[in-house]
Amino acid sequence: MTNTEVATTDTADRDLIGRLAFGSMAAQTLRAAVRLGVMELVGDTPRRAADVAADAGAEPQPMMRLLRALTGLGLLREHTPGSFSVTPEGALLHPGRPDSLASFVRMFTEPAIVRAWEHLDDSVRTGEIAFDTVFGTDFFSHLAQHPELSAEFNGAMSQATAETAAALPYAFDFRRYTKVTDVGGGDGTLLAGVLAAHPGLTGVVLDTAEGLADTPDTMARRGLAGRCSLIAGDFFRSVPAGSDLYLLKSVLHDWTDDQAVTILRHCREVLPPGGLVLIVEPVLPEVVDTTADVTDGGVTYLSDLNMLVNVGGRERTREEFAQVCRRAGLTLTSVTPLTEAAPFALIEAVAG
Ligand SMILES: C[S@@+](CC[C@H](N)C(=O)[O-])C[C@H]1O[C@@H](n2cnc3c(N)ncnc32)[C@H](O)[C@@H]1O
Repeated sequence: MTNTEVATTDTADRDLIGRLAFGSMAAQTLRAAVRLGVMELVGDTPRRAADVAADAGAEPQPMMRLLRALTGLGLLREHTPGSFSVTPEGALLHPGRPDSLASFVRMFTEPAIVRAWEHLDDSVRTGEIAFDTVFGTDFFSHLAQHPELSAEFNGAMSQATAETAAALPYAFDFRRYTKVTDVGGGDGTLLAGVLAAHPGLTGVVLDTAEGLADTPDTMARRGLAGRCSLIAGDFFRSVPAGSDLYLLKSVLHDWTDDQAVTILRHCREVLPPGGLVLIVEPVLPEVVDTTADVTDGGVTYLSDLNMLVNVGGRERTREEFAQVCRRAGLTLTSVTPLTEAAPFALIEAVAG
């Protein structure tokens, strides 16, 4: 290509590629901010970079450069040269907030997640799970062997679920049911939201022992311990009987179709007459829709690739959900968006 051809390329097109190619650097910049506690140290009123550096035990000049990069990303604002405050978006990286995304950022920038991504092309070529090749074990076994990472994962899932936990109790008629089991319910954030809004319900969280590490705390903090039991188990072996509603949020997308069918079949086996399986996941359209009101910036498709490289699962279309349900002895009866903004949908399935 000649220089003239480069000059005639649309600058916006080149900027897009540049921004995307620097995407992992932006993610690592967020990671550094969280690890150094930058948002807590900068705060809401203008603060000098040198003071932030001193409090963080960091070098002043590199700290200034980090703060300026965070400003470029929209997470800080520079008022006068070298003096910064946190923007509303940046404040979400503060670990102390109820709506914090600090653990979410830490987890999704962890080497444990990022290293498999370096082999995305291999996963695309072979269909194999890059994580298993890189680490010599599968993702959830790796978590079980690394309690700190597992705690990070549970925290990240909790933060990622908080918005759904606030919306779901009002987006679905829970009054038709008496007892709900959250299958793979993690630290209980979602079920706690449901139980708190519906005093007539009792609940169960089924998860691995590692997945349940923080669940007693979640329930105790919300005053729900008496209405919720915790079962450490394996949904590939069985799902406990006794509920009329089985909830699965962000669980099926971790697994292949065959594995998803096994989990759903175990739900089906214990589903009483009139019972319901409620899956909460994004539902991919048949064709990628990039119109402004439905796009989430492509995050659902990146999540799909994340499933490919790290766990071997996938995001699904309505028809793909219908198929795994059918193979498990369930009929998909409806798909409703959780909210207008969220990519999540409520996917209902009944026996038969
Ligand atoms: C992606 S997380 C979703 C957690 C939660 N439902 C949410 O949306 O925040 C998947 C959950 O499945 C749990 N899990 C993985 N393998 C499991 C198994 N074999 N049996 C039960 N739970 C399992 C994990 O511990 C984790 O809590």
